[in-house]
Amino acid sequence: MRQYPVARKAWGGVFDARTDERVERFTQSVSFDRRLYAQDIQGSIAHAQMLARADLLTVDECQQIVQALGQIGREIEQGQFEFRVELEDVHMHVERALIDRLGDTGRKLHTGRSRNDQVSTDLRLWVRESIDAVDGLVAALQAAFVGRCDGDQGCILPGYTHTQRAQPVLAAHYWLAYCEKLDRDRHRLADCRRRANVLTLGTAALAGTSLPIDRHDVAKRLGFEGVAANSLDASSDRDFVLEFAFVLAVIAEHLSTWAEEWILWSTSEFGFLRLPQAFCTGSSIMPQKINPDVLELVRGKTARVVGNLTRLLVLVKGLPLAYNRDLQEDKEPIFDAFDTVAGCLEVAIPMVAGATLNREAIAASLDRGYLDATTLMEWLIRKGVPQRTAHEIVGGLVRTAIDGGVPLAGLPLEVFQEAHAAFDQSVYDVLGAERAVAAFTSYGSTAPAEVERQVAAWKERLSSGTKST
Ligand code: ARG
Repeated sequence: MRQYPVARKAWGGVFDARTDERVERFTQSVSFDRRLYAQDIQGSIAHAQMLARADLLTVDECQQIVQALGQIGREIEQGQFEFRVELEDVHMHVERALIDRLGDTGRKLHTGRSRNDQVSTDLRLWVRESIDAVDGLVAALQAAFVGRCDGDQGCILPGYTHTQRAQPVLAAHYWLAYCEKLDRDRHRLADCRRRANVLTLGTAALAGTSLPIDRHDVAKRLGFEGVAANSLDASSDRDFVLEFAFVLAVIAEHLSTWAEEWILWSTSEFGFLRLPQAFCTGSSIMPQKINPDVLELVRGKTARVVGNLTRLLVLVKGLPLAYNRDLQEDKEPIFDAFDTVAGCLEVAIPMVAGATLNREAIAASLDRGYLDATTLMEWLIRKGVPQRTAHEIVGGLVRTAIDGGVPLAGLPLEVFQEAHAAFDQSVYDVLGAERAVAAFTSYGSTAPAEVERQVAAWKERLSSGTKST
């Protein structure tokens, strides 16, 4: 490996000995933080422009720096830039390339900043962009769910608790349930974006600087809404990374619920759903198999995202103020959490849009599981029977129906009347899944009119690009 004199290190002045190569390999972060090159250059350009306004650079020096940084960015983008472990991280690479081109002018860029605030700023810029990217994907997934509602209109599915048949619900009610979950995810993203969108640059190593920098100017240039008020706090914290990782983990959890549900629904035991074949895989030994591997991986990858969140939480535990090198370990987990969730969303969107409900099989199954039992109980409650009593009576009727091998609607009126004198012919109006669904009325329920109203509201919300309030 090529040897460099001690002074080739940006911090080499005080050292008499060259860094051991094993240490260089061990401490490098450029293999993963090179991903931040665009943010690093963006931050450095804003910093240089501010330095010129503060007379810490001449206008000419600033222009040279801005131009050279742009050039370096293009070289990295086009793969024409050499990364070397001895330069440690992406920040050192960009600065070294600048100094190689501009000499002393390049040596002025690091005025009034440190890598500690530089890393934090670059990462904040990256988190901000990544939040926006995830938000766009989550919105597209919501649109895919809402997009199903018209085509699946009138389709009733069994709703489950404990994976046991519970009550009938409209398919659209299912789809909107996911829209609501994803809506909260979007709110969480927006909320964590607010706290990430704060400038930490210019807090320097930990204490600030004695130089006449203007941090508000830099914030404006980089589109940050605030300026971190305490240099010691700013250089020591990664809570904005933790928050983003947490929101990503919640999104992954929501996706894994969806994936699990659709894996079950696409089995021949359920037979509710046909997945788009382009999103299924086969078996190399069993010729008949069409497997939901994509959904299984969406479910499985949740583990990675939760693992990354855990890794980050453990990483920062007990770190004293301010910067500690441990913090370098924050990049890989947050990059991976983002890549994983974005990857899951990218396949989820076309799958949600492209799957087909097997309406006949679903309809044929609705008589099973006494999905209308709760509505029958509520019929009795409307007649003045106390809930606990009504529950018991209907429990007895379900038992009779099970024994007779019939649905509740298959019991003759006398059986109902034997169970309670209030029963009359109109009880059949709420029996059967379709009638049971029609009997719902409450806000937020699966009542057809309510679902229709909500579908319309969602269409409106998504077309205007707003989240719920
Ligand atoms: N590569 C390091 C990181 O990502 C930057 C090191 C900055 N500071 C230091 N004192 N070594 O965190």
